[in-house]
Amino acid sequence: MNKTLRSVIAAALASWSFVLFAQTTLKDAFKNSFLVGAAVNRAQISGEDSRGIKLIESQFNSITPENMLKWTLVHPQPNVFDFRAADGYVEFGERHRMVVIGHTLIWHKQTPNWVFEDEKGNPVTRDLLLKRMRDHIHTVVGRYQGRIHGWDVVNEALNEDGTMRQSPWMTIIGADYVEKAFQFAHEADPKAELYYNDYSLENEAKRKGAVALLNKLMKAGIPVTAVGLQGHDTLDWPTPQQQDESIVAFEKLGVNVNITELDITVLPRVTKEPAAEPNPNAENTPALNPYPNGLPDSVQQALAKRYADLFALFLKHQKAIRRVTFWGVTDADSWRNNWPVRGRTDYPLLFDRRGVEKPAFEAVIRTAQAK
Ligand code: GLA
Repeated sequence: MNKTLRSVIAAALASWSFVLFAQTTLKDAFKNSFLVGAAVNRAQISGEDSRGIKLIESQFNSITPENMLKWTLVHPQPNVFDFRAADGYVEFGERHRMVVIGHTLIWHKQTPNWVFEDEKGNPVTRDLLLKRMRDHIHTVVGRYQGRIHGWDVVNEALNEDGTMRQSPWMTIIGADYVEKAFQFAHEADPKAELYYNDYSLENEAKRKGAVALLNKLMKAGIPVTAVGLQGHDTLDWPTPQQQDESIVAFEKLGVNVNITELDITVLPRVTKEPAAEPNPNAENTPALNPYPNGLPDSVQQALAKRYADLFALFLKHQKAIRRVTFWGVTDADSWRNNWPVRGRTDYPLLFDRRGVEKPAFEAVIRTAQAK
């Protein structure tokens, strides 16, 4: 074969594989393994963010509301519920035949103070708080009965050492608040999947706390479908071994595992401990914000490799994993740009600020194709 012919054939093959590759979407690549979801925001649901909406429709088969179903937004005052955004969210998911997730019922953040206080600002009694919890869960879960597939019932109940976080839920009701929340959710929609969701469960002490908590719930006959590992990762945390061990620990317990809020920051850490609660008021300095004008290729490649390693692990455990959800769609949407330091430029997702697939996207797709 002469040289020209060879290069013509090579070019044709390359462009053909490019076409094949370009047509592959996340949801198709992993369709035999797990759902691939994204956290979506109000601008996407309303159609204002048309670029975001196109990616959501084409790449994902599950959605989680970034904020739209949090207590403070749906139930801002004792007798005021506002479901405008949440209704739009659920309708959007149904229109696109997506698996619609509810996030989140009981959490210590984004919950108004009135929930825990009487008219004088004093802490309410256990009974009154349980009543408020029940009313909230019944109203919200009940409204979307049969339409929201699964709920993050309790979010972040644990401290880093695996003990119960001293949130107002815990101090006013006691440790059985978790059990009660699951019971109420189950009553409100007996068919909905129910999840416990938290971060840093890849660290041994906190993981042990979660295993003990879930064990207790399951022994009491509380239906827990899955644990959500949030997956707010860094380039070097959790280690593949930590990730592997945490999936196995929950699988052994008999619950499914969902990766619920995946993103990987490439920016320097503010605290020494990975994933510890940092000070959200930390000052934005050039040292903490090294890539304001673009990501160097070496970091781009490191991010791609990191994503590929994680997805290879998720595929290895696909029997336990039902869903992998990214916390956002493009780098421009990500909360990581503003937390724990405001105004940084982070690159934690698979689509860049223009909505274009990053090398990490291709690396993730390749893990599915290599299987
Ligand atoms: C937690 C919550 C999410 C979201 C992220 C940060 O992980 O579960 O709802 O608030 O923090 O955006």
